[in-house]
Amino acid sequence: MNAIRIHEFGDVSNLQYEEIETPEPADDEVRVRIHAVGVNPADCKIRQGAPFPIELPWIPGWDIAGVVDEVGSAVTEFEPDDEVYGFLPFPGEGGAYAEAVTVSPTNISRKPDSLSFEEAAGIPMAGLTAWRSLKLTDLEAGQRVLVHAAAGGVGHFAVQFAKHQGAHVIGTASGSNEEYLRDLGVDEFVNYREERFEDTVEPVDVVIDAIGGDTFTRSIEITKEGGVIDNLPLNVTSEQEEAADAHGVRVIQSDTGDPEWLNEISELLEAGTVVPTVDTVFPLVEARVAHELSEGGHARGKIILKPSGGIEN
Ligand SMILES: NC(=O)c1ccc[n+]([C@@H]2O[C@H](COP(=O)([O-])OP(=O)(O)OC[C@H]3O[C@@H](n4cnc5c(N)ncnc54)[C@H](OP(=O)(O)O)[C@@H]3O)[C@@H](O)[C@H]2O)c1
Repeated sequence: MNAIRIHEFGDVSNLQYEEIETPEPADDEVRVRIHAVGVNPADCKIRQGAPFPIELPWIPGWDIAGVVDEVGSAVTEFEPDDEVYGFLPFPGEGGAYAEAVTVSPTNISRKPDSLSFEEAAGIPMAGLTAWRSLKLTDLEAGQRVLVHAAAGGVGHFAVQFAKHQGAHVIGTASGSNEEYLRDLGVDEFVNYREERFEDTVEPVDVVIDAIGGDTFTRSIEITKEGGVIDNLPLNVTSEQEEAADAHGVRVIQSDTGDPEWLNEISELLEAGTVVPTVDTVFPLVEARVAHELSEGGHARGKIILKPSGGIEN
């Protein structure tokens, strides 16, 4: 099969399109023939240099959608031809930028029929992160939540989950995303290029901060005492933590959620309550261009890679 591998950390030229052996599932695994792969900023960050041990060569990516094509003898949950989507073991293993992958059934879920493979592949990491954020911040109906980078991968799910929860949602993005975010349901929109959110937004209970840095610091002052900020880039400094603490604001920095939550998210997708946005679909062989787009930091929704199909050795 064909896959993208990295043999050395560094720039996009390290993403190599190669022919490698097709993996065989163990007794407790299935093999998924991958139809679409979701690209996440974490793929690029790890390509640049992993903050944890990774064995090279490494196949990047965690988000997959595809069709089960082989089932280990101990697996009862799935059969060949089942359409699935899933989140491969994070952070170490990855393996999504390929035509096939072997995976435990606990990492995959049935793909909602209403979604294309491309739409489904964009959901796992970003959707699970937004879902986890709602759980950990204890967001309740009627509360005010500020979502930074609301038009991004995590943000566009966070907006929709929070609206479903009954929250009052404020989203930040550039002006070109205002109409898009209002259609998604934001109650208030802040164009971060033209105004400072802390000057215009009334105090909030929860901040879902997909930007970090100065945006995190400025978010502290508009978070109510007893409120919470979920910092997704995991880059809060000890000074920032002290400032939040002095303001009575709880800070969360946590990894993505549990792959089994995809079953909960699937219900909202089936019902059409949550709709994924796909920014651009690239052939897998163009992973370098996809990474450049992701690193540009202005994708709307998700960037997707599409393997060409064959998994013969
Ligand atoms: N902790 C975890 O488990 C976890 C999981 C997933 C992601 N993350 C992290 O969370 C961050 C966001 O991930 P993502 O997948 O959502 O990224 P993304 O899809 O690449 O985000 C792109 C979006 O960011 C917006 N944006 C850029 N600068 C902005 C600013 N200053 N203010 C407001 N919006 C801005 C852009 O909107 P405009 O085009 O309108 O500027 C664009 O829509 C990344 O650092 C990622 O690594 C962490």
